Amino acid sequence: RRRIFSGIKPSGHLTLGNYLGAVRRWVQEDQYNADALFCVVDLHALTVEHDPARVRRLTRQAATLLLAAGLDPERCTLFVQSHVDEHARLSYLMECTATDGEMRRMIQYKEKAARERSSGTSVRLSLLTYPALMAADILAYGTHEVPVGDDQTQHVELARDLAQRFNQRYGPVFTVPRATNPRVSARVMDLQDPTSKMGKSHAETAGIVYLLDEPEAVRKKIMRAVTDSGTEVRYDRTAQPGVANLLDVLASCTDGKPEVLAGEFTSYGALKKATAEAVLELLRPVRARHAELCADPSYVEGVLRTGAERARGLARPRVDEAYAAIGLLPPA
Ligand code: TYM
Repeated sequence: RRRIFSGIKPSGHLTLGNYLGAVRRWVQEDQYNADALFCVVDLHALTVEHDPARVRRLTRQAATLLLAAGLDPERCTLFVQSHVDEHARLSYLMECTATDGEMRRMIQYKEKAARERSSGTSVRLSLLTYPALMAADILAYGTHEVPVGDDQTQHVELARDLAQRFNQRYGPVFTVPRATNPRVSARVMDLQDPTSKMGKSHAETAGIVYLLDEPEAVRKKIMRAVTDSGTEVRYDRTAQPGVANLLDVLASCTDGKPEVLAGEFTSYGALKKATAEAVLELLRPVRARHAELCADPSYVEGVLRTGAERARGLARPRVDEAYAAIGLLPPA
């Protein structure tokens, strides 16, 4: 059966970008069509300045929200990365397979390192080696497909290269994975700055819709979204990035086509209103289910325990095989 793996980093509250770019497909398609594993990648949240209590809280919250969004533990495996040692074990072998040039070329590294430096913080080494751990996440499970938003495609391509290189040098241990992106909203943009991605760790939050925002706040953020000068509603990502972003979000929420939807609106106000309603409609059941699950933390813990057990069982033999293949003496 086809194996799917994807992850989400507990470095901030989950956003509409995470939901439309990744989570919604996990819920609606992947868990039905494949043997799917979803992981709250807490080790990845330690690559920039962090607060230990906050990471712990956000890890639990991300897992709860994924269940609230509709991941069904009877259909897929949900777990926390640090609960399965194989990720860290395999990450080291990936560091021994990758080159430092490859790591330094990653767009996300360049952007985040620049951001850390400009705020006077030193850059953690793990920020540079991040893609090695991410490759380990994916390769440990014999993954065929990795459903992600388009900001993660470059990392998945590196995982692909590393799998091929490892296999060529040491023997056929890994399945070569590929990234898949959603049809629309592979990149949801910030509502206040539609030329940059809506990201959970940004400091300015007026342009970010969080899944747990109060409905009134969601409505306000969308109604105040920056649009472009002009009045015509057209779908043009270059000339009208603000309007195009709203059309993408609306299309994604309603399973429509942004180009077609553009023709249905004669004012920016009407487009914003329709988008806000569509987003609220989508988030309402998620918020409600999240509140229910928060009242029952032992349920979520149980899901994560079972998930980690299954994940360990799947990853262990392949990681052992990689250890042997690369030249390490197996323990007697
Ligand atoms: P993360 O936590 O930043 O994002 C989780 C998922 O949400 C997608 N996404 C978006 N999609 C569209 N528009 C946006 N504005 C937007 N923001 C985020 C991301 O593309 C991602 O699919 N490195 C990964 C986590 C990770 C991972 C993995 C993913 C670690 N190991 C192995 C897949 C496989 C990350 O930081 O995602």
